[in-house]
Amino acid sequence: MDRSTRKLDHIRNALATAENGTNCFDDVSFVPNSVPNTGYEETKLATEFATFRLPSPFVINAMTGGAEATTPINQKLAIIARERQLAMAVGSQMAALRDPSLASSYQIVRKENPHGIIWANVGAEATVEQAKAAIDMLEADGLQIHLNVMQELLMPEGDRDFRGYLERIQNISEAVNVPVIVKEVGFGMTKETMRKLLEAGIRSIDVGGRGGTNFAKVENMRSSHPLTMFEDWGFTTVESLLEADSHIHAQSSVMATGGVRHGLDAFKAISLGAKAVGVAGALLRLIHTKSLAECLEEVDAWHHQIRVAMTALGIVQLADAINVPLLVTGKTAERARLRGIV
Ligand code: FNR
Repeated sequence: MDRSTRKLDHIRNALATAENGTNCFDDVSFVPNSVPNTGYEETKLATEFATFRLPSPFVINAMTGGAEATTPINQKLAIIARERQLAMAVGSQMAALRDPSLASSYQIVRKENPHGIIWANVGAEATVEQAKAAIDMLEADGLQIHLNVMQELLMPEGDRDFRGYLERIQNISEAVNVPVIVKEVGFGMTKETMRKLLEAGIRSIDVGGRGGTNFAKVENMRSSHPLTMFEDWGFTTVESLLEADSHIHAQSSVMATGGVRHGLDAFKAISLGAKAVGVAGALLRLIHTKSLAECLEEVDAWHHQIRVAMTALGIVQLADAINVPLLVTGKTAERARLRGIV
């Protein structure tokens, strides 16, 4: 299977499997406060994740690059990132590391947003040299290393050997001069995984949970032997955030991606400990169907929704959201209880 075809399949299938219904964030609600003693204008959206001071907690998370048809997608995402000061990650650069003629489909992101915060992206199979080359390709400010074991196993042409991941991740993080963010792609993370990453020297983690783009479904749609029984694999984004205990938060910055639909979901993730919130599928759908102006309006609406929640709860700085009382119900609460968390 040609890599360029795979990139386009992923976009098509991610759009086709869009889950607009309920997800893990619906199991989380806030305890209301009728006397919050704050004003909307006081609320601030700035946050700190890893070494980055981000004007907005929203991050345009890794999606694409590596085929000519992906250039306009990355271009539109990069303009949104520039216009609304969002950090942005590109999709896996492994394709361009093997075929440099594909680099321009990623470099458009730096071209459109010369001063923005941009993160490179490689798989855990990358060598130190490949990781450095991915950063150089974009003059990137950070590097994401994605973990996607279940996706690879369901991908007909995927990897089957996952030995040496932690060692390579550690070697990369010691050799590069930008923060390394290890992320899942939608199967979530347990506290045991996060602790192993901490032991490997990682200080920034994106829990990348189930609830939004479902890569088991995306790959099954491409497979002549789909393993549909794996489509519920993993931990949701909320379950993964509940897994991150005080030790993990003390040692690292945690961000959350997976199923974020709007500002209230983002604020729930932040109240559960996330320092930043990644969005992939929802933005892909937006840029696919809306004009640039409409996409910017939607991002403004997400920011407004966060500020409405902050005002109603009496929160001025996002960093204070961690103290807001939350109710966790339903399947999420039941599963967290089995893990000894709530
Ligand atoms: C992705 N994602 C992804 N992640 C990664 O680290 N490298 C990659 O190359 C890709 N490719 C990719 C393609 C497409 C079309 C989508 C929609 C997503 C995963 C992405 O960054 C994110 O972790 C998940 O999509 C979950 O977030 P959402 O989509 O539920 O917001």
